[in-house]
Amino acid sequence: MLYIIGLGLGDEMDITMRAWYIIRNSDLVFLDSYTSVLNVNSKALEEFYGKEIILADRKLVETQSDKILDPAKKQNVALLVVGDPMFATTHSDLVLRARDFNVKVKIIHNTSVFNTIADTGLSLYNFGKVASIPFTDDKWEVNTPYNVLKENKDLHTLFLFDLRPEKNEFMTINQAIKFLEDCERRLAGGLIHDDLFLVACSSLGTDNQQIKAGILKELKTMKFRKFPQCLIIPGKMHFVEEQMLELFK
Ligand SMILES: C[S@@+](CC[C@H](N)C(=O)[O-])C[C@H]1O[C@@H](n2cnc3c(N)ncnc32)[C@H](O)[C@@H]1O
Repeated sequence: MLYIIGLGLGDEMDITMRAWYIIRNSDLVFLDSYTSVLNVNSKALEEFYGKEIILADRKLVETQSDKILDPAKKQNVALLVVGDPMFATTHSDLVLRARDFNVKVKIIHNTSVFNTIADTGLSLYNFGKVASIPFTDDKWEVNTPYNVLKENKDLHTLFLFDLRPEKNEFMTINQAIKFLEDCERRLAGGLIHDDLFLVACSSLGTDNQQIKAGILKELKTMKFRKFPQCLIIPGKMHFVEEQMLELFK
């Protein structure tokens, strides 16, 4: 059996009791170490779960998944994922490949960036398509996030950022704003400007969570201490959403 287990966003203690029992009874425990990060390292997880943890990088999960699926034919194998496991296509792909291997899969859910953004007061019902901002290393011009913002019209747009945990590189809110400003310079759609109202979030779902609502030129001057970070451009707001955001100005 393959258990795909969400760890939540904070530390080793955010897993559910059900997940804890499953991990304790697993023969092999992998940790997806590239789609996001917790506030603690894998040693803390090993101590709390009493199990050795094998770090699974992108290559292992995406192209060498037989190393996870083969043993799961006869043993209990757990794959731990930061946040909720079913928000990344990578893990849906693993479920499909498990079917080809005749391996049964059980998914254990947890808190995710996708529900903790509700702490901002913005209603989850009013979000449009999510956009991911990639590191371009100043080599490529990527316009998709800007086009998603345009398509979302009156709906709120959540921007998730690229990350390279293996190199300890996490995109900052400032880098994401710069990315969107560069898109604006190229596409001139009038969507990104100094007075645009934004909501910046970092380390949601942890004791260090920061949410700041304000206009672009203000937020650019702020420092957000913790990672991961994300950004929301609100669309049309209900008055309760506006009142909630007052708490973060
Ligand atoms: C591929 S998503 C991972 C989603 C994860 N499986 C989940 O359910 O939360 C990674 C990106 O989401 C955002 N993110 C993840 N956790 C976050 C947090 N605690 N606070 C703010 N943004 C977060 C960051 O932009 C990060 O680079």
